[in-house]
Amino acid sequence: MTTKVQDEVTVEVPVNLAYNQWTQFEEFPRFMDGVLSVDQITDSRLHWVAEVAGVRREWDAEIVEQQPDRKVAWAATGGATNAGAVYFEPVDPGRTRVRLELEYEPEGLVERTGNALGLVKRQAKDDLARFKAFIEDRDVPTGGWRGDVAPGASVGTPGIDAAAASSGDSGKAGVSPKVAAGAAVAGAAAVAAGLAASRSDDEQVTGGGDVVDVLTSDHAEITALLAVLRAESDPQRARDLADTVIAELVRHSVSEEMHVYPAIRKHLPAGDQAVEHDIEEHKEIESLLEELEKADAAGPEFHDVVQQLTQVLDDHVADEEREQFPQLRARIPAAELVEIGARVERAQRLAPTRPHPGTPNAKLFHVLAGPGVGLVDRLRDRLTGRADNT
Ligand SMILES: [Fe+2]
Ligand SMILES: [Fe+2]
Repeated sequence: MTTKVQDEVTVEVPVNLAYNQWTQFEEFPRFMDGVLSVDQITDSRLHWVAEVAGVRREWDAEIVEQQPDRKVAWAATGGATNAGAVYFEPVDPGRTRVRLELEYEPEGLVERTGNALGLVKRQAKDDLARFKAFIEDRDVPTGGWRGDVAPGASVGTPGIDAAAASSGDSGKAGVSPKVAAGAAVAGAAAVAAGLAASRSDDEQVTGGGDVVDVLTSDHAEITALLAVLRAESDPQRARDLADTVIAELVRHSVSEEMHVYPAIRKHLPAGDQAVEHDIEEHKEIESLLEELEKADAAGPEFHDVVQQLTQVLDDHVADEEREQFPQLRARIPAAELVEIGARVERAQRLAPTRPHPGTPNAKLFHVLAGPGVGLVDRLRDRLTGRADNT
């Protein structure tokens, strides 16, 4: 399944000025959200650095066709699979229509939260609007490159087939793999790439990482989901996303308690104390999740709870990743860490809360957990097996 995003904006400048500005890729961070830097390696190769949901990412993009005053087309060469084109069409001598077509292949998180598509679409719209403000605000572009790339190639709008080299290479969150994205509308592509790279189901099944990799990847995914939730203004989509956050966090906490905390108790000095501290924080997180499930997504308190949850979780994740995980790696044999990681992955795959790609979240939760208040408790009972014994 692929996802297409199309949008356009009319800018109040002649086509040559709009096009010239667009060729100044290194200027993109000035008007594209989340893009930190762009380096033009050659006329057709670009290296991008962006921040997506607080995670730094780098990628390369190849321009497959560029025609002055008409078109810039790109395809990914590695990482998250995406491709697209930006077209420039004169409306009259002083106005230009800038049209974007972007296609990408969602994985993991994107498939499980259809809402992410909304975020990518909004990012594309916002970036085009910022481009319009940027170019209309100045008399002359900051530069211009009038060369051709592949003149006469007429590749149309490259689809994800053109980015086949990047297929199945989405990498893991936080390690800056060669995540690829488009040369244009970098913000939208970065969101798509970032979400896709945060964790794919394939990686969960075949990743073979140790337990620290598995849990760190969970943390990145949940942090990214919370960032999407904080930006969501539609109450129904916010409700669905919140339910997904609840399920992911309960699933993560329960698997830590069942499979990881016993190892911390056994192998770390003062392990009992560390576990008791962690469990206290899990309780705090869980009570915020209970507030979140009761909160009206259209009401003012909903986003307050999301904000509090973000803060508590950020602290808890920092404790685990900075203090406990390095100690686990230092004190537990690597093979045992991989074995614990496999146990966590197995438990997560069997967990009844695991969203199935393509299943609408609301329906999923009604089927698996029943509607209404009590979701956190019911999920915990199912995951720990308590529900089977009562
Ligand atoms: Fe935890
Ligand atoms: Fe954790």
